[in-house]
Amino acid sequence: MRPLFRLPLFSLPLLLLLLLSSTDAQSHNITRILAKHPEFSTFNHYLTTTHLADEINRRRTITVCVVDNAGMSDLLAKHLSLPSLKNVLSLHVFADYFGARKLHQISKGSTTTSTLFQATGEAAGTAGYVNITDMKGGKVGFATGNNEGEYGDLTSTFVKSVDEIPYVVAVIQISHVLLSPDAEAPVSGPGALNVTTLMEKQGCKAFADLLKSSGAEETFVQNVEAGLTVFCPSDGVLSSFMPSYKNLTSEGKVSLLLYHGTPTYKSLGMLRSKNGKMNTLATEGANKYDVTVQNDGEDVKLDTNVVTATITGTVIDEDPVAVFKIDKVLLPRELFKEAPPAPAPAPAPAPKGSKGAKEKDTAADAPAPAADEDSVPADQTASANGAIRIVNFRGGWMSVALSLILGCLVFI
Ligand SMILES: *[C@@H]1O[C@H](CO)[C@@H](O)[C@H](O)[C@H]1NC(C)=O
Ligand SMILES: *[C@@H]1O[C@H](CO)[C@@H](O)[C@H](O)[C@H]1NC(C)=O
Ligand SMILES: *[C@@H]1O[C@H](CO)[C@@H](O)[C@H](O)[C@H]1NC(C)=O
Ligand SMILES: *[C@@H]1O[C@H](CO)[C@@H](O)[C@H](O)[C@H]1NC(C)=O
Repeated sequence: MRPLFRLPLFSLPLLLLLLLSSTDAQSHNITRILAKHPEFSTFNHYLTTTHLADEINRRRTITVCVVDNAGMSDLLAKHLSLPSLKNVLSLHVFADYFGARKLHQISKGSTTTSTLFQATGEAAGTAGYVNITDMKGGKVGFATGNNEGEYGDLTSTFVKSVDEIPYVVAVIQISHVLLSPDAEAPVSGPGALNVTTLMEKQGCKAFADLLKSSGAEETFVQNVEAGLTVFCPSDGVLSSFMPSYKNLTSEGKVSLLLYHGTPTYKSLGMLRSKNGKMNTLATEGANKYDVTVQNDGEDVKLDTNVVTATITGTVIDEDPVAVFKIDKVLLPRELFKEAPPAPAPAPAPAPKGSKGAKEKDTAADAPAPAADEDSVPADQTASANGAIRIVNFRGGWMSVALSLILGCLVFI
């Protein structure tokens, strides 16, 4: 009986920790918060389009400065590219919590705060910072910095608090969009994005190597700017397929690799809401080298008529480029019709489990907003532990730790 009595005493703090960590990512949803306020619908729309909403939902102790639809029309009139628009909107997300009360209690009357634009690494000087000043008459003003380390005029002022989850997220309305030539500047562009390097870093090195050695890389690179989605078999999956790959003609090799890309950007969310045929980079003419997207609960599956692969992780998912990991090589029926190959990549459970763990690491460490919340359930399919499915990464590790400790205590 004694162990049972001891158990709650030991596990209480752990349980609290678990609760705190597992509610981490779910604690706020900016899209839902703003949906209650139609006057901010344009701002809300662009938070989704630029994927900033995901970034906001992932973070804690932040402030989102929203402007109403009229204020947004000033910004949209500038016809910025989506990446530049994203940078401007990033300026509206402060990496600190400024509820209405704190705004009116700024010590010495003025402070500066870093923003998500600063977090992109693209801002020079103080261009990624915002100056918050308690002005005469109780007004609070905001000014953006610039690449020379100065702050401009306080062109925008605090209007009202929209919603506050204390010390998690403050959503406040400001009078005007925060403009800054640095944030509005054309972004060096996704052309600079090196897809093969990204793949190499995130468990798809073997696939990236094949793209290079076969010459197929060029077609992928050419599509990066206009939109590209890649399904890369992760390293363990590809190695068991290599004997069959070597058997293909060089033309066949290129077709097989191009078959793993599609010339448009598709987020995991878009794939989840899609069922049906999809073109690939190998498609030439109708019904050639297409693949069928199938949804199965949270899972997204790709059916070639020869094999059905499942998306198991996200390497990057940021408009205009998405790269997802899959658990099987996609075999086009044009090449594998007659002979579904004997070494069909059905990875053994053992390497799969360790791969799952590795994927979580890389996803959690990802510098870019690469591994979004979306990738969580998909990654979990590689995990044998059902308990991990419902919690996020940090919560997942915590629950593993907790189960281990509880397990030990039960044995005492
Ligand atoms: C946030 O809410 C929106 C609208 O209700 C929903 O579509 C979206 O999936 C939610 N995001 C998360 C991360 O729960
Ligand atoms: C912020 O801007 C105000 C007004 O231009 C200026 O007086 C103040 O020194 C600035 N604060 C900081 C911390 O730079
Ligand atoms: C990606 O980076 C690798 C290594 O730095 C380089 O060899 C390759 O040419 C780059 N590819 C593109 C398209 O820039
Ligand atoms: C390679 O092709 C040869 C001849 O068609 C065939 O006998 C062999 O089984 C193939 N090997 C693999 C691994 O597909």
